[in-house]
Amino acid sequence: MSGCCLSTMGASMTDAQIDSCVVDMIGRMTLAEKIGQLNQLSGYGYAPDMIGSIRDGAVGSILNETDPEVVNKLQREAVENTRLGIPLIFARDVIHGFRTIFPIPLGQAASWNRDMVEEGARVAADEASSVGIRWTFSPMLDIARDARWGRMAEGFGEDTYLTSELGVAMVKGYQSDDLSAPNTMAACAKHFAGYGAAESGRDYNTTWIPEIQLRETYLPPFKAASDAGAATFMCSFNDICGVPSSGNRHLLQEILRDEWGFDGLMVSDWGSIQQMIPHGYSADLSQAAAQAADAGVDVDMESYAYISHLNDLVTAGKVSEARVDSLVANVLRLKYRLGLFDNPYVDMATASRFYTAGNLDAARRAVEESAILLKNAGALPIDKSKVKKIAVIGPMADAPYDQAGTWSFDLEKSHSVTPLAALEAKYGKKNIIYVPGLTFSRQCTTDGFAKAVEAAQKADLVLYFAGEEAVLSGEAHCRTDLTLPGAQSDLLKELHATGTPVVMVIQAGRPLALRDDVDNADAIVYCFHGGTMTGPGLTNLLAGEVNFSGRCPVSFPRMSGQVPIYYNRKNTGRPAQGMTLIDEIPLEAGQTSTGCTSYYLDAGDGPLFPFGYGLSYTTFAYTDPVISATEITPDENLKVICTVTNTGAVEGAEVAQLYIRDHVGKLIRPVRELRGFEKFNLKPGESRQVTFTLTPDDLAFFTSPTTREVEPGEFSVWISSDSNSGNPATFNIVAATPDVASR
Ligand code: NOJ
Repeated sequence: MSGCCLSTMGASMTDAQIDSCVVDMIGRMTLAEKIGQLNQLSGYGYAPDMIGSIRDGAVGSILNETDPEVVNKLQREAVENTRLGIPLIFARDVIHGFRTIFPIPLGQAASWNRDMVEEGARVAADEASSVGIRWTFSPMLDIARDARWGRMAEGFGEDTYLTSELGVAMVKGYQSDDLSAPNTMAACAKHFAGYGAAESGRDYNTTWIPEIQLRETYLPPFKAASDAGAATFMCSFNDICGVPSSGNRHLLQEILRDEWGFDGLMVSDWGSIQQMIPHGYSADLSQAAAQAADAGVDVDMESYAYISHLNDLVTAGKVSEARVDSLVANVLRLKYRLGLFDNPYVDMATASRFYTAGNLDAARRAVEESAILLKNAGALPIDKSKVKKIAVIGPMADAPYDQAGTWSFDLEKSHSVTPLAALEAKYGKKNIIYVPGLTFSRQCTTDGFAKAVEAAQKADLVLYFAGEEAVLSGEAHCRTDLTLPGAQSDLLKELHATGTPVVMVIQAGRPLALRDDVDNADAIVYCFHGGTMTGPGLTNLLAGEVNFSGRCPVSFPRMSGQVPIYYNRKNTGRPAQGMTLIDEIPLEAGQTSTGCTSYYLDAGDGPLFPFGYGLSYTTFAYTDPVISATEITPDENLKVICTVTNTGAVEGAEVAQLYIRDHVGKLIRPVRELRGFEKFNLKPGESRQVTFTLTPDDLAFFTSPTTREVEPGEFSVWISSDSNSGNPATFNIVAATPDVASR
């Protein structure tokens, strides 16, 4: 096949050239060929049916095919054995690494390090593209405030700003500066939108999100990803206010494309077009196809709705061919942007680039930056002069599969370095007494306790590796009980009773409710699921060779019943104070509503560990913030400056966090909102001046679905080490032009 649009232009193609090639190509396509481009199938090898579909032009992209030879053979069918030779795109859920697995995204969020997240995505793209995967369904940008929801693991936590920043970093890492380079992957901002708001934290559940809240809380990370050039989006399974995303024209067309100017590709979620039938939004698959096409879903992932019905819908005039053309244009544009017309094949000479020393090193550093020191009563770092024997206990000490966490499809667990292996390597096998006590996290038996207790008694220190198996979080893996599963808390109690100091290290897919465990551990390290290099990363931290710098990307509840819990809540008219907890209430106490405030009788108020919190082996002191003006107009910037000093004895990294509060608003505003952060290293005694600039955009909020404004009035601003500390400075925003009428 010849034609300008198949010529080798590669990275030099401008958007205008791509668009003209797209138009040219569409002009040469039959309706059937167009519809084929919109169909995405799951791979099943170089199989006759798949070959047939490709030769018929009935498939435009394939997910889950990871053998580079098969990828090349299937691609050859598309390029050489179809009329127009349009290449396929191969896609995969490469969520936190391909073969070299990085911490789960929630763990990466705990690093509060944009560069690290970008580097992890770059490594993932290099490895995955080396087998031909040029499209990943990541990053997940769903704000998650309910830890029951298993997919909290896959995102960057509860905060809109942190998620936006890290989402952009991940997009950049996957796509680099030149998406047409063969070692990149197209990113996919998902799930658009509101999926993390699933009622009661049960996956796929309904949401009711007023548009102001949608725009305020759930959409900004997607807007940021679109602005950063994310090549694709995926719509979500859920409905918002009764409309499933796959049929939501307001969201997919009016907001995403018309308002934000997104010109990339929108893929459905797996079967989500078809699922509008059980939702009760479509009577049958044909109607679902028409609704999705109208809403702006370009690619049908595994619903078979477009391939089965679009032709008839066009013939019957229910979907216009122009509409089909606009969907196809988005698919072709992506193929040009990826350089697939020039470079459709995997270069077998450099295929399967996995586990390079650099990749493993980056994964280890990611673990080191992602682990959070939640408590330390002096048990850490491990003092080699006193600790001769270490008891390594717990179901997660040697769990090469589970330490990788959810969405580790391509994990080869023989490459996982477990904490046990790393500790044995560092301290010598003979100094480690390994007794798991429980063989997996959900196990309820106490059969192994006696041996574990005996090991603890013989040791100078217990390292207790607790947590959740990988399968207890992730898609459709939601829990109502957020405590440590199985008998892990009981085992912890028994270990603590031995008197040997206990360090509890938790690997999990969500923040667990640890209220009843905190007092039974002398130190607590939280590392979510760390991936391939969990063992070496943790071991370096426990030994004190690397300092902790992870900070909570979510609020940790005390008890399960507190969720959803998040720091940037709104105040009630009766904020918590004078709390009388359940044990303090006298029998038959008088019943009155006078003086009552907003808290739980059994959990009090607030989280166990707040958003942004994390300890270090050193301490940091903050001066009060100094502001560049105490009065600004709504269109002015404000500088906020403070000095952070390392007041301890060792070097460490701190995350300075900028928060604001708008005290009085037309619509009430949260008690604090993150507006900036900076992570930096300080030597003992060293200070650093931290400067943030608050722009009008940082101070504005939606007062209606279509109005975003900065309101005059009093604001507070903090630079602090977490969302619950620090002293604020206050300033006023005064109306730029005095409103004469209101004087
Ligand atoms: C369903 C998940 O919701 C989505 O995130 C994923 O990308 C697709 N399946 C494809 O595996």
